[in-house]
Amino acid sequence: MRLSLRFIIPLLIVLAIFAYGLMPFVDKLMLSWSLRDMDSRSSIIVSSIQESVHDQLIPDSKSKMVAFFTRITQNQRLHALGYCGSQTSAMIATLTMPKSINCGNLEDYSGAEIVRTEPGKYSSFHISVRSLPTDKNPDGRLILVHDLSFNERRSEQTKRYIFYFFTGLAFVVSLITVAIAQLSWRGWVQGTRALMRGEGLFREPSTSGHSPELRPIARDLKRLIQDLESEHRTRDESQITWNAEALRTILSGELRDDDIIVVSNREPYVHEIHEGRIEVRRPASGLVTALEPIMRACSGTWIAHGSGSADRDSVDDDGFVAVPPEKPAYRLHRIWLTKEEEKGYYYGFSNEGIWPLCHIAHVRPTFRTSDWDSYVAVNRKFALAIVQQSKIKDPIVLVQDYHLSLVPRMVREKLPNATIITFWHIPWPNPESFTICPWREEIITGLLGSNILGFHTQFHCNNFLETVERLVEARVDRESFSVTLGGKQTAVHRYPISIDWPPAQELMQKPVEFCRKEVRANNNLPTDQLIGIGVDRLDYTKGIIERFNAVERLFELKPEWAGRFTFIQIAAPSRSTIHEYQSHQELVCVTAERINKRFGRPESPAILLKIKHHESQEIYEYYRAAELCFVSSLHDGMNLVAKEFVASRNDDYGVLILSQFTGAARELPEALIVNPYDADQCAAALHVALIMPQYEQRDRMRLMRGLIAEFNVYRWAGRQLLDAAAMRRRVRLFPDGTLPMGGAR
Ligand code: F6P
Repeated sequence: MRLSLRFIIPLLIVLAIFAYGLMPFVDKLMLSWSLRDMDSRSSIIVSSIQESVHDQLIPDSKSKMVAFFTRITQNQRLHALGYCGSQTSAMIATLTMPKSINCGNLEDYSGAEIVRTEPGKYSSFHISVRSLPTDKNPDGRLILVHDLSFNERRSEQTKRYIFYFFTGLAFVVSLITVAIAQLSWRGWVQGTRALMRGEGLFREPSTSGHSPELRPIARDLKRLIQDLESEHRTRDESQITWNAEALRTILSGELRDDDIIVVSNREPYVHEIHEGRIEVRRPASGLVTALEPIMRACSGTWIAHGSGSADRDSVDDDGFVAVPPEKPAYRLHRIWLTKEEEKGYYYGFSNEGIWPLCHIAHVRPTFRTSDWDSYVAVNRKFALAIVQQSKIKDPIVLVQDYHLSLVPRMVREKLPNATIITFWHIPWPNPESFTICPWREEIITGLLGSNILGFHTQFHCNNFLETVERLVEARVDRESFSVTLGGKQTAVHRYPISIDWPPAQELMQKPVEFCRKEVRANNNLPTDQLIGIGVDRLDYTKGIIERFNAVERLFELKPEWAGRFTFIQIAAPSRSTIHEYQSHQELVCVTAERINKRFGRPESPAILLKIKHHESQEIYEYYRAAELCFVSSLHDGMNLVAKEFVASRNDDYGVLILSQFTGAARELPEALIVNPYDADQCAAALHVALIMPQYEQRDRMRLMRGLIAEFNVYRWAGRQLLDAAAMRRRVRLFPDGTLPMGGAR
């Protein structure tokens, strides 16, 4: 009713102003009608008395004439009647003729409407002077004085009618307004109120109590919000200088008070017992390389498998340890697995099943039901830990990688309001390949418990959507790159992972020249030896054999390099209980040996194979000492070694040879891009790298460094968090999840 009044009162005011404004026009109109009326009456009177006046204008008949005029003026509206023979003669008139009028001043009064009847007294009359010539008085004139008070009465009456009319009109319009407001606009009011309360406006038609008129507007509004968000995000993203500080600002600004939990199989710090002492080690893992600086910036909790021999001795009673050890910035919560669980979940299902399934490296995946059972049980363990660690009902959970594909759905069941961002660090294969997995539907359904699912490349996003279309009853929207399963949407986005930029100071402390000397000296190489570097986990997907074959081919094709060039391969032991990895390690060793036999010299081996864990500082020293870095993965989600090598070269020199089958190849076209299966092409690339002029090295290196500086790991994480923040805002606005997801970039 209050809303109706808000409508009616202004309406009444407008109508009143309108009516009031109309009054002067009514007066004018009435008067002009009356005058016209009196004019015609005057004409009639003149013509009807013309004869009589002529007859009566004889001497002595003046009194007769007055009596005659008086008779005529019995008509109520004719107030007085008079006759002037000439301008100088006296007026023969009824007694009612106003005193101020005489035959000499007729011109002044003709047409006048206000007349002074007596000194100081004015009345409303209309004076009409008509010519009435006779033989005797050719200038004779008849003066007709009409009473105008009837006009005033008429005008008053009309005004009253107008007032009644507008009052009636206002009443009817108000009535209609109230009726419409009550019947039709109730929905609008409810909808708007719901929107204001943040309860969501856009329910499904079946469950909606909202007005259908709102739906098209709702759709437009959704699109508008979506466009604004995406524009806002893109603009913001490119305007931000991405670093730890920027990430902290996003967290404190966009995700204030929100709880961030990262969960991965691999932990960022491993405590190992070495020679009777506890040592802390940073594992060789792209995932750790990327996420560790993020967690330093964001704080929060990182939940991971405690796999180190001294891990249990390094945590508090609840399984927590503050890390990094030298300057704690976040909490690491370790999950304990039994040997059987680790065997089935990590070595078995994750690394004998999914890993080869997703990498086209021609190693057959092995799927065992017992491994699957462990995988499910361990995923549940991780999910439970997340739920227990969450301080709020809607935390932001960052789930990492293929070890934990069931976690998103498991967490969603317990924390329906959590924002779950899952990042798949390895490639996603085509649907045919993925169909090999006996638990394919479970894995996809598990992942679709996420709000956002991230891959390194658009190609992997496309593969995932095709797999979903093929295997699951879900709606795939290729325009917005989202999947809807059971009414819940998952946005499938590309977030190319990257590295910390600029690299930590301690990694870059030693000057390039110093690194060159030290690496050569430590490896007993000639001081002018040219060096190529490879850094990998000892994994068959990394193409280490193919790399060695390329080195061999270089020496075959360009024997002048023998004795002048050594390829140093740093290989971190990995997953070594798996048979495939053991035989791969053997093959790597045998191949290196064979090539060394053919082309190595005592002081200058062709290949220097270093199977051992190296800390980041040592690795960066090798990067900075080398002429080239060779990344020859047979299939790789991104490969951060390529980016690390570029980051390490603040001298702008060094050549990167990069497999076309890495995600990094899409971002770093200035590298020498090769097919690792093509030994001749790779050998040619090695040769080109070794003879590349310095200016060309510098130009290529600067371009690559520019890209990594701009698209560093803070941007990778920041984009996910910005998307999560936008999603949380949207969920608050549209809790039923009907809003289409933002488009993939
Ligand atoms: O980068 C891919 C990846 O599988 C990571 O997820 C993992 O941490 C890393 O390689 C090393 O593997 P692992 O954790 O089995 O040693």
